[in-house]
Amino acid sequence: MSKRSPRVEIMHGVNLDQLGRRDPAIYGTLTLAELERRIAEDARALGLTTSFFHSNHEGEFVEHLHSLRASADAIILNPGAWTHYAWSIRDALEIAELPAVEVHLSDVKQREPWRHVSVIAELCCATISGHGPDGYGQALMRLRDELGWDGA
Ligand code: DQA
Repeated sequence: MSKRSPRVEIMHGVNLDQLGRRDPAIYGTLTLAELERRIAEDARALGLTTSFFHSNHEGEFVEHLHSLRASADAIILNPGAWTHYAWSIRDALEIAELPAVEVHLSDVKQREPWRHVSVIAELCCATISGHGPDGYGQALMRLRDELGWDGA
C-alpha cells in the first residue's frame, strides 16, 4: 500500500438527489449535499480522500464507473432503484475492477420483495443496509481495511 491517502468514490444513483423531500421516515431528513458533507468528514477522520458523483441517468452512471480505474482506489455505491434490476451497472462495476461496498439508507430486506434483489451484491465486498447515514461510515471503514490503509 502506498503512503498516499486512498481515494474513495461515492456514487449515488436515481432519485437520491431527492433526499430531504423523500419519505423522511424511510430515508431520513438529510439532503444529498448534507449527506455528502457528512461522508467527507467521516472519511477525513479515517485518512481517506473522497469524491462524489450523482446521476439520474443510467448511461452517465455507467460511464462514470468506466472512468474510475484511473481516478479511484475504491467505490461506495448506492444506485437507488437501479440496484434491483440494472444489469448494465453490474457489468460496469465489474469492468471497474475496484473494491466496492453497496450501501442503502433503508433496510431493503424489510421492504417490498422487489427490493430484496441486488444485481451488484456479488461484486461488492460488503452490503450495508438500514443504517441510514452511519452506513456510509461503516462502508468507509470496511474499505479502509480492504485496502490495508492504516491512516499513516
Ligand atoms: C435505496 C433503496 C432502494 O430500494 C430505493 O429504490 C432507493 C434508495 C436506499 O438507500 O435505501 O432509491 O437505495
